[in-house]
Amino acid sequence: MVRAPSHPALADGAHPFPHDHLLGIAALKPWEIAFLLDEAEQWVDLNRAGAAKHDGRLAGLTQINAFFENSTRTLLSFEIAGKRLGADVVNLGVSGSSVKKGETLLDTATTLNAMRPDVIVIRHAASGAVQLISEKVDCPVLNAGDGRHEHPTQALLDALTIRRRKGRIAGLKVAICGDILHSRVARSNFLLLAGQGAEVRAVAPPTLLPESVEALGVTAFTDMDEGLDGADVVMMLRLQTERMAGAYVPSTREYFHFHGLTEARLARAAPDVLVMHPGPMNRGVEIDGAIADDIARSAVTEQVEMGVAVRMACLDVLTRRRRGIAGWA
Ligand code: CP
Repeated sequence: MVRAPSHPALADGAHPFPHDHLLGIAALKPWEIAFLLDEAEQWVDLNRAGAAKHDGRLAGLTQINAFFENSTRTLLSFEIAGKRLGADVVNLGVSGSSVKKGETLLDTATTLNAMRPDVIVIRHAASGAVQLISEKVDCPVLNAGDGRHEHPTQALLDALTIRRRKGRIAGLKVAICGDILHSRVARSNFLLLAGQGAEVRAVAPPTLLPESVEALGVTAFTDMDEGLDGADVVMMLRLQTERMAGAYVPSTREYFHFHGLTEARLARAAPDVLVMHPGPMNRGVEIDGAIADDIARSAVTEQVEMGVAVRMACLDVLTRRRRGIAGWA
């Protein structure tokens, strides 16, 4: 039987999340992930009750959201999360930044740091860019997605959604399907879900499946029907054309025919299958729109809701040392 990881006994003076930054799932122990998910649970209930707005625990702290790549869900939910906790939140988008005038990443990092923020959230098109910035600044840095590398808060919100809907993660068959080659969401989810004891499958056409994917603790499938067989959770990914150089699929129509999530294909999964998608979705390319809109099976909007709770938990936990919270020195 696959068991969920449990927290080891903490030594005196230790706390359950001993990290300065949140750069990726790869750096986290399974029980540190479980701790963040547990922290996020309280915010789900408070957000639903409209009670989180007055929390104020980040009052007086400045949060910079520096997004050098487009975003709807991640940017807005980090902004809402910071504001609900009382932070002063400012957003920097690539179209309005001096990166457009040729400023380097490191000069941008130094410039942000000189304004003495208390926490920086960064999205960047280059893998490793967020880690580089974290080495140049004096405050916690949270990765909001870097290239094909990682999108840790997306994996956390996906895990929270699964845990709440299914009551557990360990032992579930989770099929992650689509453009895995270009997906930071897939990579973070493979690491997180396999580490929490799920049986994870990577399902993609051969051109969109990284050769070394099984080293991440998953089983690879190139046939969609086989990959979906008995799955408890099916997570669809869009074709990330912004990261593609050249053609990886003959046409989107053919892609949908062989790899799109249709009713017929979904019938191969478990009867109570949960359908997920990190968004943005391309209806009729990787997923039939009617499946995405079926709230009995689809958790797409719930994933967005969990995103706010998870990001509140991450902002809170990562700033505890800075706020002088007892036990977090
Ligand atoms: N899932 C996700 O990262 O969406 P955005 O690009 O809209 O932030």
